[in-house]
Amino acid sequence: MHVTPDRRLQPVTRAVRTCTRQPAWSRFTSSCTRRRRLPSAFPVIDGAFQPIHSHVFEANLRNSQVCQQRYMELRNEVLKGGGEKGIARHTLKNKKILVRDRLHKLLDDDDYLELSPFAGLGLSYGDIPSAGCITGIGKINGLWCVFIANDATVKGGTSYPITVKKQLRAQEVAIQNRLPCVYLVDSGGAFLPLQSDIFPDKNHGGRIFYNEAIMSALKIPQVAVVCGSCTAGGAYVPLMAEEAVMVHRIGTIFLGGPPLVKAATGEDVSPEDLGGARLHTEVSGYVDHFAAVESEAYECARNIISTLNFKLPGERHTEAEEPVHIVEELMGLAPRSYRYSMDVRLIVSRLTDGSRFQEFKARYGTTLLTGFARIEGHQVGIIANNGELTYEASLKGAHFVQLCDQRDIPLIFLQNTAPGPVHTLSQDKAETHSNKLKAQGAMMSSVACASTPKITVVIGGCHGVDSYAMCGRSFDPNFLFLWPNAKVSILAPDFAGTLEQDEDKALHINKQLKEESSAFYSSGRLWDDGVILPQDTRKVLSKCLRIIKQQEYQMSREKQKTTLFRM
Ligand code: COA
Repeated sequence: MHVTPDRRLQPVTRAVRTCTRQPAWSRFTSSCTRRRRLPSAFPVIDGAFQPIHSHVFEANLRNSQVCQQRYMELRNEVLKGGGEKGIARHTLKNKKILVRDRLHKLLDDDDYLELSPFAGLGLSYGDIPSAGCITGIGKINGLWCVFIANDATVKGGTSYPITVKKQLRAQEVAIQNRLPCVYLVDSGGAFLPLQSDIFPDKNHGGRIFYNEAIMSALKIPQVAVVCGSCTAGGAYVPLMAEEAVMVHRIGTIFLGGPPLVKAATGEDVSPEDLGGARLHTEVSGYVDHFAAVESEAYECARNIISTLNFKLPGERHTEAEEPVHIVEELMGLAPRSYRYSMDVRLIVSRLTDGSRFQEFKARYGTTLLTGFARIEGHQVGIIANNGELTYEASLKGAHFVQLCDQRDIPLIFLQNTAPGPVHTLSQDKAETHSNKLKAQGAMMSSVACASTPKITVVIGGCHGVDSYAMCGRSFDPNFLFLWPNAKVSILAPDFAGTLEQDEDKALHINKQLKEESSAFYSSGRLWDDGVILPQDTRKVLSKCLRIIKQQEYQMSREKQKTTLFRM
């Protein structure tokens, strides 16, 4: 695929030529100004696919349709939360609003970015819909905020190990992108049968409260709304937040509930008297705001967010150019396996504004595509696999990452890494491989150390060491999403035979790799921030870029020496 100059650029080129023939003083004349004002002078990529590739396109399309079907099924499953019994208990017995309706009241609109909705599905201890907790980023009075909302229809909102992991990841997103954080707390504390996987370790439950303190010290505002039980561990979330709101007759905060008091002292006490909203706003001072009903609490939280010292720019409606090519065609470009990958330019041309792309080092290390583009007006550097990450490709990647870091341009990694190792069978090969490793090390170092924001989308394979250089999860991208066709495993399925001589063992490992490499398996375990459909990628990327940018508008950002203490 060749980069072709855009015809629409030709008049501008002529204007530049005219300009160079004029004397120096005339550089400020209108023809030069016209050139500077161009929104994007990047060339349009030729993103049309050739008829010869139609069978690959068709096979990818069929696979993507199956994956999309699975995506829809899981989406419907998680929307049911804890199921009929849990919903009836929550709404009829406990008279509470369902978690998604709470978000509807809290946020400006339903156009929020939900994180890892499939987390908790297919785990060894069962299916925990949305890990019992909805997390994401939505706007409150125009300000992007992370929300962490327990779903009490799932086992009373208790915390499973995956719930803790999901909350910690949401806090990490808040920290990395400096976003205010709102907790909707409705939790019975630890899910006791799995207490040993929730309580003692560094990244277990206590880390949530530790993070709250650190976030406050980093001047990341946090608001808690107590809209259900906050028992045991749950009690510490509002305690450590900077401001807390509590709903009368719905919210309770205590370490041990009325049954425990009865067992210990023989005294009968109501939940309201033991730790209700009146007690905590009028007597203990544990909570700052009293809300008579739930909807009042979300209004109160919105008002608190309005007091944060952000100076947002006025809404500007600049029309971004849509890609020239049909975005839905990404379904046929999403590779069903590495062997079905087509030139990644075809994918890039369906993601960028006007399908424009300013390629960097087009003739060197051609198995990695690097270059600049805009996504809904945001300038980005794109790094996309277009084959094996060779010595040259890795050096080029390292160079480009540093270039973007130097210019503070966010990086988008489109990851589709090679399915298995290449064996070293000769001395020549050994030398080639060790050079390649050194170059990959350089790329990994530049990715790890780049301070510019990074977003990774796994568009195909996420295998082996190449995936680290392409900013895999362990390299801390601000966000990491998977397409539903993505495969995540150290080796691709069918590659175990290259390492394992024993046929039975190879068959067994291949079967395991197949099961464990699906995008939904990965997302169930929270190895990513969610599965997104290829045709939604441009919108998701644009939203992430807007979210990341918001920190520039916080007026007071300097780190405090200490956290805010609740008095
Ligand atoms: N661990 C494991 N399961 C728990 C649990 C816990 N800490 N707390 C509640 N559950 C389960 C219940 O067994 C029930 O399961 P089921 O649906 O299979 O019957 C489900 O969660 C809902 O609990 P239920 O008591 O029926 O609902 P509720 O709305 O009336 O009350 C709570 C919810 C959370 C207020 C109440 O269950 C409670 O106080 N639990 C104990 C909390 C506690 O002491 N935690 C200490 C953790 S260290």
